[in-house]
Amino acid sequence: MNQTVSIEFKYPKSGYAIDIGPDLLPASGEWAKKCLGGKAGKAALVSNAKVFGLYGDVIKQSLEKAGFDVFVCLIGDGEKFKSFKTLQKTLDNFSESRLSRTDVVVALGGGVIGDLAGFAASIYLRGVSFLQVPTTLLSMIDSSVGGKTGVNSSYGKNLIGAFYQPKGVLVDVRTLQTLPKRELTAGFCEAIKQGAIANRKLFDQTAAFLKTYNPKSFVRSFDNEDFVSGIVSLTGVQIAFKAEIVRGDERESPDKIDARSRKILNFGHTFAHALEKVTNYRYLKHGEAVGHGIRFAAELSKKLGLLSPNKVNLLNDVVRRAGTLPPIGNIDPRIVFETFKYDKKLIDNSLQWILLKDLGKPVIFPHADVPQSALMSTFKDITPS
Ligand SMILES: NC(=O)c1ccc[n+]([C@@H]2O[C@H](COP(=O)([O-])OP(=O)(O)OC[C@H]3O[C@@H](n4cnc5c(N)ncnc54)[C@H](O)[C@@H]3O)[C@@H](O)[C@H]2O)c1
Ligand SMILES: [Zn+2]
Repeated sequence: MNQTVSIEFKYPKSGYAIDIGPDLLPASGEWAKKCLGGKAGKAALVSNAKVFGLYGDVIKQSLEKAGFDVFVCLIGDGEKFKSFKTLQKTLDNFSESRLSRTDVVVALGGGVIGDLAGFAASIYLRGVSFLQVPTTLLSMIDSSVGGKTGVNSSYGKNLIGAFYQPKGVLVDVRTLQTLPKRELTAGFCEAIKQGAIANRKLFDQTAAFLKTYNPKSFVRSFDNEDFVSGIVSLTGVQIAFKAEIVRGDERESPDKIDARSRKILNFGHTFAHALEKVTNYRYLKHGEAVGHGIRFAAELSKKLGLLSPNKVNLLNDVVRRAGTLPPIGNIDPRIVFETFKYDKKLIDNSLQWILLKDLGKPVIFPHADVPQSALMSTFKDITPS
């Protein structure tokens, strides 16, 4: 059975394909060559020790078999390595290995690797080809699609970066078998977010997949062809949705505020970012914070008379199926909402809430129009004691 899906990501001047399926890594060399128009020069394979230990050999061997001269750049594992320091080391590594304008950077790993390697590729020699091989659910359906690359600075997350599109993305869903459960939950929360703002069909497909999701049997499920087809299909429709939004608003234009602007991808994120900040980015995975953020935004939408209680219950139910979220009831909501005062988006008046009128019907709501009392009571309602 052919279980591979390919999504064409077309821009006016360029385009690339996102190939999704099981067991794609062993053929990654030929895939890379195809993405680069048949050329196989030097390849900088950027990863971390953990992911490289799992999948590095297979991809390296495949690249070499296809004629690439591969050198490996390993960075540390975790958000703190999405930094200027790591960027500089990676760029130095490229120079020492004599990576040239016609060569390629291949990112193998989650969003941290993809964001950092993509940014490095965008500025090294003013831009070299870049390929993405995402290995977390979040990076498959979210960060590897859309061309946002970058690093964190001491002033905040993702403050330095570039829009830089890859020449291709290869999603081998079998790599999810080794992903820790909390990372799966985090990825599923981003999938629910996309379903909630997209349309009823994507929401229902995501919800249906999660209905059968059992963390205990997840790895074994990959023996079942129908399950594999199901996860390829879900990943494919999720990616297609994100690609469609990005195509319509590649650079997240500040004045585009309709229901299909790139901003709507921030559903659940206003509250999530505040939660991550007050817990020093250590307590919650980003996607877990988004899980809480979805529940918060749904409840707030209800309080403001936008969303019906039934839809809120439905959303909460789907978030619950994604896995257990670390509790937030012991966090003081005043401290959470205090962070908005210092949010750079509030300063230029662009702090917004993405709320829902219905599943698949997002609305952009200025922070200034949301009463503080509604925020406080929403926090109380989503964290019952
Ligand atoms: N560029 C964008 O548009 C965009 C969108 C969303 C998020 N992001 C960024 O993505 C980052 C988060 O990405 P993430 O959630 O993938 O986190 P991550 O890259 O830190 O990966 C999570 C963990 O899983 C491990 N891992 C990765 N693949 C594995 C596998 N197959 N098996 C076992 N372990 C594996 C990693 O080593 C890491 O420990 C953040 O920096 C965020 O800002 C970017
Ligand atoms: Zn996110």
